Amino acid sequence: MMAEKNENQYQPRELSNGHHRTDEESLLTMEEEEAKRKKKMKWTIGIIAFVIFQVVQALFFVLVIMKFKSPKFRVTEFTVSNLNYGTQASPSFDMSFVAPIRVKNTNWGPFKYGASTVNFTYGGVQVGQAIIPKGKANFKSTKKIEADVTLSSAGLPSNTNSTLGSDLSLGTITLNSQGELKGKITVMFMFKKTKISQMNCTVVIETSTKAVKTLSCE
Ligand SMILES: *[C@@H]1O[C@H](CO)[C@@H](O)[C@H](O)[C@H]1NC(C)=O
Ligand SMILES: *[C@@H]1O[C@H](CO)[C@@H](O)[C@H](O)[C@H]1NC(C)=O
Ligand SMILES: *[C@@H]1O[C@H](CO)[C@@H](O)[C@H](O)[C@H]1NC(C)=O
Repeated sequence: MMAEKNENQYQPRELSNGHHRTDEESLLTMEEEEAKRKKKMKWTIGIIAFVIFQVVQALFFVLVIMKFKSPKFRVTEFTVSNLNYGTQASPSFDMSFVAPIRVKNTNWGPFKYGASTVNFTYGGVQVGQAIIPKGKANFKSTKKIEADVTLSSAGLPSNTNSTLGSDLSLGTITLNSQGELKGKITVMFMFKKTKISQMNCTVVIETSTKAVKTLSCE
């Protein structure tokens, strides 16, 4: 026990006495080298991280920012303010309402579009129009357009007579709204792309409530 302790105490002393200077010198240069190596490593990691950051940024830019998507152009639910309609035997309708038209722009830049019209049709025949003035849907937002619409069956050809008659006997009027918005998307103030947004919605109006029963857009 005692001898072991002595030996343990003695040995390190001799080591440090005998090789003190050279050990410290080599330790110093080793430390310096280690510090240099660490510094180099830090730089390397820093540069790699920077390159990765740049690549990710470029990818994000190309895949997200520069991905031009056609804005969504559609009509949303509304209630008819004035509605007159005939019978199955004498089918007709005329109505007026404010059509809530929406241009949803999911791009990272504004969508500027020219003036256009939305055509309302019954059985493929136009029964009225909504005027869309030229405008702009800001980036990542929905432009709301409230358009006054007046529709009349007066111009329908005789072959839609029976369709309208049975439609009215069911208490509905099935309309279609079609339109096209042509405009330009600008991203980062300089990257531009022309896009066309199509609208093709089917609106079923319930004559008893004057409300939209079903609405679907392509
Ligand atoms: C449609 O039907 C009504 C009632 O039967 C009739 O008076 C009208 O003339 C028809 N219209 C056409 C264009 O045939
Ligand atoms: C709407 O109708 C007008 C004519 O009144 C036509 O020039 C235009 O192409 C139509 N738009 C669509 C999308 O069908
Ligand atoms: C609009 O949609 C209807 C059905 O939802 C389809 O039959 C029709 O062909 C479409 N029209 C256009 C111009 O895409």
